[in-house]
Amino acid sequence: MVAYHTFETESFPKIAYRKIGSGDPLVLIHGFPENSTLWQQIWPELSERFTIIAPDLPGSGETVYNGGALSVEVMALTVQRVLEHEGIEEAVIAGHSMGGYAALAFADFFPEMTKGLSLVHTTAYADTEEKKETRRKAIGIIRKGGKDVFVRQMVGNLFSDWFKENHAAAINRQIETSLVLPEDSLVDFYNAMINRPGRVEVLRSAAFPVQWIIGKEDNATPMAQALQQCYLANVNFVSVYANCGHMSMMEQPAKLISDLGTFTAYCFK
Ligand code: MLT
Repeated sequence: MVAYHTFETESFPKIAYRKIGSGDPLVLIHGFPENSTLWQQIWPELSERFTIIAPDLPGSGETVYNGGALSVEVMALTVQRVLEHEGIEEAVIAGHSMGGYAALAFADFFPEMTKGLSLVHTTAYADTEEKKETRRKAIGIIRKGGKDVFVRQMVGNLFSDWFKENHAAAINRQIETSLVLPEDSLVDFYNAMINRPGRVEVLRSAAFPVQWIIGKEDNATPMAQALQQCYLANVNFVSVYANCGHMSMMEQPAKLISDLGTFTAYCFK
């Protein structure tokens, strides 16, 4: 049974997260433009071995932050507050894409709580100037009433050709979930990503194992970029998936369950 919990703290009028299962804790942080249900295909099996904690980042689901501008550091703080609320001192932290930027910030600020860091279709590099400009243009489109068009196109492009041909209905369901996000949340997320620093040093100095999940057909975090970073930590688990774009939790769920399970068990052994 997945439980949806909420609580409040000083800067967060509401923090919402999903919890399922028992065992060593594995945190799953969603990306953009998603919420914690992103992981729903993989949490049933993983929850047989681990306690799955999947927060909604501020602006997604019911989570609200009122302490100023959103940043990936605030996203990391959201995760820390959830773990504190749950009385969890150490967890494997897995983050998908934007959730990976938050996971890297978490590992930077709370290394003693990081038992392992799983980077799912993400990067430790900051945005290039070109990428920042693309995001600013997207913000302009969203602000001019183009949210729906932007979301449909953006989410549609996250999948491999094989998945697009065979699983159009699943993509449409994901698009509908993304369309629920308010315009302000999309803009806040994009500004947070524009402003995030690179965190390659977190990898180089990691006292914990690091996992890389890479899609061969990922247009959002190209394989070539991930391959430049996936040897920087001392202990690296690297998986490259064929027929996979940016969304292995939907495109290759069995592989992701197996790899996340193996990694989390290793980190807690
Ligand atoms: C995501 O999936 O979270 C986004 O593609 C991240 C990004 O745009 O950098």
